[in-house]
Amino acid sequence: MKGVVFVELIAMAESIAGEELVDEIIDSCDLESGGAFTAVGNYPCGELMTLVQAFGQALNAPVEDLQSKFGQWMFTKFIDGYPMFFAGKNDAFTMLESIENEVHVEVRKLYPEAELPSFKTERISDSELMMIYSSERPLVAFCLGMIQACVDHFGTPATITHKDRTENGKYYSDFNIVMAQ
Ligand code: HEM
Repeated sequence: MKGVVFVELIAMAESIAGEELVDEIIDSCDLESGGAFTAVGNYPCGELMTLVQAFGQALNAPVEDLQSKFGQWMFTKFIDGYPMFFAGKNDAFTMLESIENEVHVEVRKLYPEAELPSFKTERISDSELMMIYSSERPLVAFCLGMIQACVDHFGTPATITHKDRTENGKYYSDFNIVMAQ
């Protein structure tokens, strides 16, 4: 997993808990990488899960909530860092439909080692989109945060629900996004 993801997770944790406590938590995790993450490095996703778990315990926050908050945090970083992927997209559904065949395709060209999920999307109606997530990594709550931030970015309120399943060690979630009329 890209180092930038770790750097941003730590930045978010520091914004909540302060640098000192976050340093202590990272040390207590005894990570194989040593815990000195750089944006250009690549690290095992397992270390991300260990960190989220440890931050959750220290901050008394459910891990799913932290993951989702982190998804929202990452999305705002992507808006700033990659404006070209947002150019010409006028609504959340158009943006979400472009992730699989456009955004993540470009991400893979820029960073061949990126570990990305895959998505299938289906427009149920003008106001309803199904987005099916599948990944080797247990990041459904992170994905929920990204989708929520995407909806917020375009400004039309929506209700997002999801139904998760794990099959053969893979993680799936059916996200249903219904725009307020
Ligand atoms: C709402 C839109 C988006 C959704 C729902 C989404 C979803 C995700 C998810 C869930 C992951 C975690 C990996 C996994 O689950 O297997 C991920 C990783 C990633 N995404 Fe997206 N994404 C979105 C938009 C973007 C945008 C706009 C960028 C801009 C560059 C981007 C770049 C990346 C990168 C760099 C990673 C990390 C890959 C790695 O660590 O190896 N995504 N995305």
